[in-house]
Amino acid sequence: MGLRQRDDREHPVFSRAQRSQPRSRIGFDPDLDYGRRRGSRLSLLDSDMSIRSETVFVILRREVPNDRSAVFAVHTAAFARPDGGEVPEAKLVSALRGAGDVIPALSIVALINEEVVGHVVCSRASIDGRPSVGLGPLGVLPAYQRRGVGQALMHAVLAAADALDEPAVVLLGDLGYYRKFGFQLAEPLGIVPTDPHWAEHFQVRPLNAWDGSLRGTFRYATAFDVL
Ligand SMILES: CC(C)(COP(=O)(O)OP(=O)(O)OC[C@H]1O[C@@H](n2cnc3c(N)ncnc32)[C@H](O)[C@@H]1OP(=O)(O)O)[C@@H](O)C(=O)NCCC(=O)NCCS
Repeated sequence: MGLRQRDDREHPVFSRAQRSQPRSRIGFDPDLDYGRRRGSRLSLLDSDMSIRSETVFVILRREVPNDRSAVFAVHTAAFARPDGGEVPEAKLVSALRGAGDVIPALSIVALINEEVVGHVVCSRASIDGRPSVGLGPLGVLPAYQRRGVGQALMHAVLAAADALDEPAVVLLGDLGYYRKFGFQLAEPLGIVPTDPHWAEHFQVRPLNAWDGSLRGTFRYATAFDVL
């Protein structure tokens, strides 16, 4: 996936950069119509505030041990609380690793210019005592959100789970966001959450190995209990 910056000196980002002299070397237009032009307006500012024209590629790969602090930083920023308080989602990833519940092939990072800007992880869960897969957290650094990074991570992790012959991936999340990746409400397929209040956000993505026999109560890895 490439995010191609427009080479256009009349570009509103360029004009705004000249006006406001942002401190960051990476500038984004807060007024973009992302629905129409998502992914096309990353602008890189050189130190003299001129626009550098280049294509920025997003690389997806499995997480390696050296990524751990960057992954922690991604979730800390993505799930930051307005009061600046502790971010349980960031600690959750560490706790899942510590418990040995992360599925290594399903812990994927997204990099732009060699910086980790997003991460998704799946962990070992169970459905009625049989092995299953729980997805989350998924996070993208705020400065890189709404450019397709989250979508790329989701497609990558689902394809990897499919390649592992996992029958399904389960998550608790926003229906509007996850529907486009093939998630559907889990209860009609016979998969129920431990907490009935989750039902309207509790979703499953059946994969190729799905045969409908995986039914019952879904339990996340124990690290999720801290959330
Ligand atoms: C959710 C998240 C991972 C999406 O990553 P992203 O790189 O911004 O996603 P994409 O660019 O692929 O897709 C953006 C689209 O998702 C939508 N979207 C983002 N967060 C959403 C949410 N919580 N619910 C519904 N839709 C959402 C946006 O409206 C956008 O749609 P649009 O461009 O049509 O307006 C990112 O916004 C994030 O890290 N959020 C904070 C952490 C979080 O809520 N994680 C998910 C729960 S585990």
